[in-house]
Amino acid sequence: MRKALPILTLILFAVALFLPLSSPQPVEGQTATEALTTDMDAKTDDLFNGFGVKGTPIDECVNEPEPPTARGNGRFEDNKFIFSERETIEDGLGPTYNDVGCVECHQSVDVGAFGQQMEFRAGHTVNGAFVDAPGGQLVHARATDSDIVEHISTAENVRSFRVTISTLGDGFVECLANAALQNNVAAQPLAQRGTLINVPVTEANNTLRIGRFGWKAQHASLVSFSGDAYLNEMGITNPFDGFGGRSSSAPDAGTHENPASTPAGVINVTFPSPFDPVEDPEDDGLDVLAFADFMAATRAPRRQTPLPAAAVRGDPLFNSVGCAVCHTRTFVTAAPGTLINGGAFAVPAALGNKIIHPFSDFALHNIGTGDGIVQNGGQGTANQIRTSALWGVRARNRLMHQGLNVTIFDSIQLHAGQATTARNNFNALTAAQRSDLIAFVLSL
Ligand code: HEC
Ligand code: HEC
Repeated sequence: MRKALPILTLILFAVALFLPLSSPQPVEGQTATEALTTDMDAKTDDLFNGFGVKGTPIDECVNEPEPPTARGNGRFEDNKFIFSERETIEDGLGPTYNDVGCVECHQSVDVGAFGQQMEFRAGHTVNGAFVDAPGGQLVHARATDSDIVEHISTAENVRSFRVTISTLGDGFVECLANAALQNNVAAQPLAQRGTLINVPVTEANNTLRIGRFGWKAQHASLVSFSGDAYLNEMGITNPFDGFGGRSSSAPDAGTHENPASTPAGVINVTFPSPFDPVEDPEDDGLDVLAFADFMAATRAPRRQTPLPAAAVRGDPLFNSVGCAVCHTRTFVTAAPGTLINGGAFAVPAALGNKIIHPFSDFALHNIGTGDGIVQNGGQGTANQIRTSALWGVRARNRLMHQGLNVTIFDSIQLHAGQATTARNNFNALTAAQRSDLIAFVLSL
């Protein structure tokens, strides 16, 4: 018996040594396969990745779209139609909002993808800590009444635009296990190591999960992001609007309309006010499931085909100068059946054990571009931004979180802080190598 303990310790040690290396662990008999990809051409019908049923394109003269009643039980074409609908005041639009439908911003090169639209966030600091602008840090661009169009005062001197992020392939990102993200970050050199934050999953009673969506990695699930976007981008209250990416620091933010910050002060526009004729929640939540399932059922962006010779030459340079440290090339999604999102969602077969190439670690970094805005990651994240997922970047021409950058070269030059070495290495390349590396990025 005496020897049992040391031997057990040795075995445990050996197991511990191999655990981080062997993850993600495919279930026996299920080897990971490449995720389906879209050619990024709006003229071809290849967005659907097999999660759920495809259905047929909706013709409203013949039949109305039906949203799912639980995740995965609807039809892709119906969900896509609902994602593309323009909402009206009678539907609950506003009173303050940014646009009238998800597709208004997520549209190029195909439904769900990119748009040049930006949202705007603002606040100020008190003793060095970020504080939301009165009425909430999200300052909406539009309103349904001139009395409540939002204006901030000069006191709100921490300001930032946020450009639209493509959602193509996001179902695979949702199905990345926390451990996959953690192991990846743990393998990064200390000086470049990313920060992962835990954020509440609205549909799982705010159970915490590692955030991966949004410029501040402020959400972990597509239902939570969709509920937040329905409220904060369009002004439509719903059972999933929650607290995750809340626009206001009020403790009950997310449970009612966003207040309007006006020159006359903060105006409460919640029903029953003269500004809002529709009782809350304005949506029963089924639209939110339709949005989430539509995005979850989209394929990942495919590489440029055929690959230009310059992109092939630039490929190894992306690793050698250190870009791939944060812009992680490859992940494998969790096995089908794995419970994620705080237990609210089981990884479906179409999304499980899939190899993806997002070119992001989905972690926050300080690369000197930080905007001082704090969402749900705490004050330490004020100047951190999530690594942009570079898949599909060739179809986007407004870059970096503010969307004010228009070339890959200038985006690289903006990399400082944790990315200083990579930028310097890039600048030390020959002119021909630099253009090869840029050709590689533009082939993603
Ligand atoms: C006014 C333009 C606009 C509208 C309308 C809009 N979005 Fe977005 N979307 C954005 C912007 C801007 C971001 C980045 C926001 C951030 O992280 O701060 C974003 C990010 C996202 C993301 C995160 C993607 C990722 O991979 O990180 C998802 C998911 C999303 N939107 C879904 C939706 C849904 C669903 C709707 C409709 C309910 C919607 N959006 C409506 C502009 C918009
Ligand atoms: C330390 C981590 C890190 C390293 C190393 C790094 N990046 Fe980034 N990259 C980021 C972050 C974070 C952002 C988002 C910054 C922002 O929007 O303010 C970003 C954004 C970008 C963008 C803009 C994409 C978009 O969608 O707007 C490009 C292009 C890019 N990086 C390319 C590169 C290249 C090329 C290299 C190597 C020379 C590199 N990055 C090295 C973290 C890194």
